[in-house]
Amino acid sequence: MLAIEEKNLTPQQIVAELDKYIVGQKSAKRSVSIALRNRWRRLNANEEIREEIIPNNILLIGPTGVGKTEIARRLARLAHAPFMKVEASKFTEVGYVGRDVESMIRDLTDVAINMVKQEMQDRVKGKAAEKAEERILDILIPPVKKTGAGFKSSNSDDFDPQKASDSELNERTRERFREKLRNGELEDREIEIEVKASKGSPMMQVFGPQGMEEMGINLQDMLGNLGKGGKKTKRKLPISEARELLTEEEAEKLIDHEAAVQEALERVQKQGIVFVDEIDKIAESSSGSGGKGGPDVSRQGVQRDLLPIVEGSAVNTKHGIVKTDHILFIGSGAFHVSKPSDMIPELQGRFPIRVELNSLTEDDFVDILSKPKNALTKQYIAMLESEGVEIEFDEEAIREIARIAAEVNASVENIGARRLHTIMSSLFDELLFAVPDDINSGKITIDKAYVDKQLAGIVKDKDLSHYIL
Ligand SMILES: Nc1ncnc2c1ncn2[C@@H]1O[C@H](COP(=O)(O)OP(=O)(O)OP(=O)(O)O)[C@@H](O)[C@H]1O
Ligand SMILES: [Mg+2]
Repeated sequence: MLAIEEKNLTPQQIVAELDKYIVGQKSAKRSVSIALRNRWRRLNANEEIREEIIPNNILLIGPTGVGKTEIARRLARLAHAPFMKVEASKFTEVGYVGRDVESMIRDLTDVAINMVKQEMQDRVKGKAAEKAEERILDILIPPVKKTGAGFKSSNSDDFDPQKASDSELNERTRERFREKLRNGELEDREIEIEVKASKGSPMMQVFGPQGMEEMGINLQDMLGNLGKGGKKTKRKLPISEARELLTEEEAEKLIDHEAAVQEALERVQKQGIVFVDEIDKIAESSSGSGGKGGPDVSRQGVQRDLLPIVEGSAVNTKHGIVKTDHILFIGSGAFHVSKPSDMIPELQGRFPIRVELNSLTEDDFVDILSKPKNALTKQYIAMLESEGVEIEFDEEAIREIARIAAEVNASVENIGARRLHTIMSSLFDELLFAVPDDINSGKITIDKAYVDKQLAGIVKDKDLSHYIL
């Protein structure tokens, strides 16, 4: 698949793509599409002025759950761009205990490397699968040592017809098993394989002390490297699982890791997108900064640390130096307490595109429930379809769900479209439990009466809705 920037999608084409997933928020979509295109324009601008053009980073301003993160995430996916979401409030000024701001670039680089390696591995999948098949066959039917041919057979007296037919027999058995394998007849049979230790196994994330992070050294990698020195573990697995592991291992052997790193670095620098969430939390509020200066000092420090990265600087990562000049930064926050103008002036200047996202209305909820490619109603339909139960929503029901969402948002707390998730899960609670034990086929229509029956009690009871919806 070609990345958007390679395809040179125009701003309007980008918006059209975003429209498939996000309802409303026209001006935010517009802004991100322009920002993405601007980066391409900068990269392709006349060399003399290219470095002078200031990157157009964006500030998305709006209440919770209205699509800020979703827009950025979709944009990254469309652009096939390495994407990293970070929370500004998690960072601390260099010298304080915590994560330093540069780690966002290191993390983004890791994302890019995984992305590129995955793509490369996908390309060699076929070959890797062949190799994995050979390895499984080697385990099932260990090949006979062809001692004859090379060494002794110069002396024709030593010819051993028994041996020859052995290897021939072996070859034939092997082919028979290959057929069985391909027909899926041996999927559950257990074999013992040797796999690299701890690769891909969930390991706790290790945060190193800050100094080490700065040097681009990561404890986790050091720990990982301990296992890398060819150390393998034996595992007994059904062939279906063994095949997956072996294919992955073979694919990894087939790709050029050095080339992957180079491409990833390139991609981070030209296409990377960093989403800095809660950026309002590090903006000093003019009203609050009077008394306790402590945290504010450090927050300003974080802003100062952020500045060079957003402006364009070179960050050391363990894979090499990453220049941040063309990385797109999207800041996001509610800015209820602080305002963008509370940020230090230099940083304000680096986020020149400001766009407000609107609160979502009942009508928006109707659309969000039904229109996007990944709409919640479609998700539930697909889930139950997998059990042979057909679900249909009638229009009134969707309207009613939207109305309830808006009502609970107004009375309890406005969490935007996130409310739809909690409401839908309450609405479907009973059905999801009944299928397939009590209901395993047929068609169920979700109508207004059903919605009211499932939800009315919870909505009316304020205490309950605080907890459930
Ligand atoms: N305009 C929208 N169209 C479609 N879905 C939306 C929209 N807004 C929000 N959603 C859905 O609501 C959920 C939360 O949205 P999102 O993560 O973008 O919130 P946010 O604006 O980043 O809020 P926060 O400030 O709390 O991070 C997502 O699952 C998303 O799919
Ligand atoms: Mg968010």
